[in-house]
Amino acid sequence: MTRLLFVCLGNICRSPSGENVMRHLIEREGLMDQFQLDSAGTSGWHIGNPPDSRMTLAANNRGIEMLGRARQVKPEDFEKFDWIFAMDQSNYEDLEQVRDECKNPTAELVLFCDFCEEHEETEVPDPYYGGAEGFETVLDLLEDGCSSFLRQWKEGVLT
Ligand code: 4NP
Repeated sequence: MTRLLFVCLGNICRSPSGENVMRHLIEREGLMDQFQLDSAGTSGWHIGNPPDSRMTLAANNRGIEMLGRARQVKPEDFEKFDWIFAMDQSNYEDLEQVRDECKNPTAELVLFCDFCEEHEETEVPDPYYGGAEGFETVLDLLEDGCSSFLRQWKEGVLT
């Protein structure tokens, strides 16, 4: 079982999209019995809320269903997941602090864009205060990084 956690600031735009893009790809390959997927926010601002309606519309237009409710990341997540994907550098730094509160952190913390192969960006930009194109950029980056992660997983090059 491979356990993946996607993390952004609010857990209503980027990280739920990461989780649901990845689920879409994994289900298409019939591999869902080998994965656990979740997402969380570094903030608690939107706890219990569904994904942002603009993000959901953009994802649905690509055939991706958006499931889940926002929650805040917690120290135990570093024991419960194998990979934790930070959407941007600020999320990464906040997650390092959360990891410090975990007794036995085993998760691999990475910047999501480290897995992107077709994009030069190093962060998934926060789309919350911008226009519609920002949500498309988020999905472009997520589809790139998630498909390359999954390909590497299938090749057995990820531990
Ligand atoms: P996310 O986007 O981190 O991708 O979920 C945001 C959602 C909400 C806020 C900021 C970013 N906010 O300021 O409420």
